Amino acid sequence: MNKTFISFLVFVGTLVGFHMGVFPIFTPKEPTWVINRYVYFLCIIATLIIVNIVLRLKPPISLNALVVWSLGFYFYKFILYPPIPWTLFITYMMLWSIGTFLFISQDEETFREFRKPIVKMIIGEYKLARIVVFAALPILVGFGTYKALIPKFQEPVELRTVHPAPPATTRVHGKTYTLETQKNPYRIDEQDKYQKSFPFLDADKQEYMKNVTEGGTVFFQNCHYCHGDQLNGLGMFSHVFNPTPANFVDPGTIAMLRESFLFWRVSKGGPGLPNESTPWSSAMPPWEEHLTTEQIWKVILFEYWYTGWHPRTFDDESSIVGVKE
Ligand code: HEC
Repeated sequence: MNKTFISFLVFVGTLVGFHMGVFPIFTPKEPTWVINRYVYFLCIIATLIIVNIVLRLKPPISLNALVVWSLGFYFYKFILYPPIPWTLFITYMMLWSIGTFLFISQDEETFREFRKPIVKMIIGEYKLARIVVFAALPILVGFGTYKALIPKFQEPVELRTVHPAPPATTRVHGKTYTLETQKNPYRIDEQDKYQKSFPFLDADKQEYMKNVTEGGTVFFQNCHYCHGDQLNGLGMFSHVFNPTPANFVDPGTIAMLRESFLFWRVSKGGPGLPNESTPWSSAMPPWEEHLTTEQIWKVILFEYWYTGWHPRTFDDESSIVGVKE
């Protein structure tokens, strides 16, 4: 067998043997014995030198460089104590690599000698090495990346109640509203025949469309930052919030809620939510502090008009309850 290869095996064997067998002895639980880690490291180096001399291996400079570089890596990764941050590790390793390279390229002779095995490997004289470097290593790296990237745990179950049970009544601007029976004072048709109407176009619906337009103004002055200018919950600030702002286009939000529920939610916002809707606090502001009662009703009217949803009505509710029973 080739002497270089034996020398390489000696190096790998020594390192693995020491790391598996001897390392734990030199690194006991209590950290008072710090100095012994370095004694251990010196032992590895001594073993390598002695074995190489005894077996008269005379490894070539490229292998020496590999050994020196790997020992540096091993030292910074496992020996140096306390462990250093990753960025510092990279910095040290860069300096160490430069040092190793200087050692290789000290004169033309050594540099040529260093290049020789690499060139031979590339042109195919060392078949096994070529397979390892060009096939096995990339596969290994790819596999390592894959292992590092796949999620190791399941997403936590969402324990938050998105649409909590509303209180029986809510008090806004000094007036108490009973949510069971409260309707949007600006809605003229529960089934909303005016969905297809547009401001200024339909003469007979002008009053209704005026309210919708005013609600739209309120929306674009206050809400679109979070709920998005298409009401899809993707406003410019939406990405920083957890829970994210509600997407009114989604059938799971305002489409299945009553207007009185929205009135309560818009007036009281995140701070008004009952405990079952925690643990994450909602960023939804309590709008009663900034808007009049009329503005709140109008912005709700606008949200339904824009998305084309019908608010859930009391008739719907009884029929749904009926289905459940
Ligand atoms: C600072 C960001 C922010 C602004 C501004 C904001 N909201 Fe919200 N809103 C949220 C978040 C976050 C949620 C979802 C969490 C929750 O239910 O409280 C939400 C939820 C809602 C809900 C409940 C929907 C449901 O499905 O239960 C309604 C209704 C609502 N917002 C209306 C409005 C209106 C109307 C305005 C403007 C007057 C507005 N929001 C402005 C962040 C915001």
